Amino acid sequence: MELIAQGREADVFALDESRVLRRYRHDGRQTDLEPRLMAHLAECGYPVPKVYEVTDTGMVLERLTGPTMLEALAQHPWRLRDLGRMLGGLLDRLHLLSAPAWLPQRFGTTGDDRVLHLDLHPGNVILTGRGPVVIDWSNAGAGDPAADVAMTMVTVGSADVPGLAARLGRGLLLRAIQGGCGADPTPRVQEAVQAKLADPNLITTEAAWLRRRAAV
Ligand SMILES: Nc1ncnc2c1ncn2[C@@H]1O[C@H](COP(=O)(O)OP(=O)(O)O)[C@@H](O)[C@H]1O
Ligand SMILES: [Mg+2]
Repeated sequence: MELIAQGREADVFALDESRVLRRYRHDGRQTDLEPRLMAHLAECGYPVPKVYEVTDTGMVLERLTGPTMLEALAQHPWRLRDLGRMLGGLLDRLHLLSAPAWLPQRFGTTGDDRVLHLDLHPGNVILTGRGPVVIDWSNAGAGDPAADVAMTMVTVGSADVPGLAARLGRGLLLRAIQGGCGADPTPRVQEAVQAKLADPNLITTEAAWLRRRAAV
């Protein structure tokens, strides 16, 4: 099998022209929740890859063709504002969807819980011929949209990733994301910082950034 991409948690192999295997590394186990949510989102018309099969350690998914939004930012920095607004729009569209009762709550409830991705950063959006498609639903849950936007802001703000360096205008990107979506992340930023600090995949520089922003 040809390894075509690696994230911080999963390896992605091409099976053929139209399918990939996304497999958790280490002891990662595939939950039933992630494919169930992806199928639900597809039914709601939200752009996600089709799930063909679920195994103990991964999923067979529709193979998406195109760069990630992160790659597009690195290659076409002049598209930064448009891409940021696109990411904000993807958050907004998701937050129109009421959380199904079986989706566990991840952040404080508002009494009107919505579907939250909770890791919607430019590396988790693939720009395909049918428009942007959102991948990597392993952190998803139900709750307050402000928490989802806060996670995006904190992730993009702290990320030590080529293509998101300060010279590409991280501040501009953050403003464009927020400009593109309705929910104000402010009330949930501290919770998002604490949640990110608990992420085992953090790089030292990211943890340092987050600790500087954690309330004392
Ligand atoms: N369905 C897919 N089709 C094509 N490439 C994919 C697909 N899903 C993931 N990838 C590639 O694999 C990378 C890692 O996948 P992702 O689901 O984000 O795993 P991780 O949790 O490790 O970040 C993505 O950034 C993307 O480049
Ligand atoms: Mg990812």
